Amino acid sequence: MRLNPLLKSVQTPPITEVKSWLAGRSFTPEKPLIDLCQAVPSYPPAESLTRHLRAVMADPSTYRYSPDEGLPEIRATLCDWYQRHYQSAPQAEQVCLTIGASQAFWLAMLCLCQPGDELIIQLPAYFDHLMALQSYGLTPVCAPFDPENNGLPDLSTIERLITRKTRALLLVTPSNPTGAVIPPSQITALFELARAHDILLILDETYNSFVGSPPHSLFDRHDWQRHFVQVASFGKTFALTGLRCGALIGATELIEQALKIQDSMVVCQSLPAQLALQFGCQHLDHWIADNTQKMNQRHDAFVSCFAQAGSQFDLIASGSFFAWIKHPWQHLSGRQAARRLLDEANLICLPGEAFGAGLEAYLRLAFGNIATDQIPQAVERLTS
Ligand SMILES: Cc1ncc(COP(=O)(O)O)c(C=O)c1O
Repeated sequence: MRLNPLLKSVQTPPITEVKSWLAGRSFTPEKPLIDLCQAVPSYPPAESLTRHLRAVMADPSTYRYSPDEGLPEIRATLCDWYQRHYQSAPQAEQVCLTIGASQAFWLAMLCLCQPGDELIIQLPAYFDHLMALQSYGLTPVCAPFDPENNGLPDLSTIERLITRKTRALLLVTPSNPTGAVIPPSQITALFELARAHDILLILDETYNSFVGSPPHSLFDRHDWQRHFVQVASFGKTFALTGLRCGALIGATELIEQALKIQDSMVVCQSLPAQLALQFGCQHLDHWIADNTQKMNQRHDAFVSCFAQAGSQFDLIASGSFFAWIKHPWQHLSGRQAARRLLDEANLICLPGEAFGAGLEAYLRLAFGNIATDQIPQAVERLTS
């Protein structure tokens, strides 16, 4: 079969690869598997939300298509949520509801870029972004990882990478995999940089609800939509990763063009996902705040356990969901180190090189997947 040759150089989805290592293995109750591989909140969705969904699933109209961009009242409700969480908001016509942030990202790439365009990304980069860019023939231009900088981008390094082919600065905040949160002032500076070079700032803000304060004030600017595009996910926000709930947020003309792809790709976000999002935005601010606190406690517990453990691993950067650590085995790649942790410690995590070339010395731990009281045990597995 003749396949898109670009796919040959794209890595296998790293979570699929790591999970395949589990085939045929079993774990004892004394030393169960600790899964720090995929970023999934360990807690269930709010009980009130699942109750609401049970009720709406009894209504036959829930099983229909919606408008491509999502129901207008639901997009309006989402904008109200933004107003409360960002203290500024897009307009409903600047929102297209999508099948997770993943599809929003593809919509953004297909609408804004052509093969051959360059996008500047910060290493370590979210692996799905790398995989999508390579599959579509876009060139990721990587700002190198600086272990001294806690996973944050350096503006002058990024500026030096801008060329005539640059279409956008593509960043993730809070970062997957380092957990680093780009401060609002730096986001403003990145926007100014994009504006000065007449390019775009694309932010993937999948973990925005764990920041605990307004992540930035870009929506407050009258000109935000000329240079800013947001890729949003509500999967982590409302613990609905399997419902596939995200949004593309940007200029009205971007959304208008995106609908041509949306219609031919998926038609619309599923209506149950939209109804869940609507309920969450209307009723779950307190639930989100409690979980943000819970995630911050996990982070604190992880950092303090790690500091006390005297581990041979180095904690390089961390945030409310992730830790980015350096493994002690200089002769091993991240992939080999991750396999060794599975063999010796019954713990799975992702190899650093999944997040960009040259990052073999690192591993990503998604400790947001496990409860606070399991964290000491997880850290222990890295010490013994
Ligand atoms: C940075 C980032 N963007 C996007 C996604 C995908 O989000 P969704 O499940 O909404 O497609 C993830 C999921 O882990 C992520 O970490």
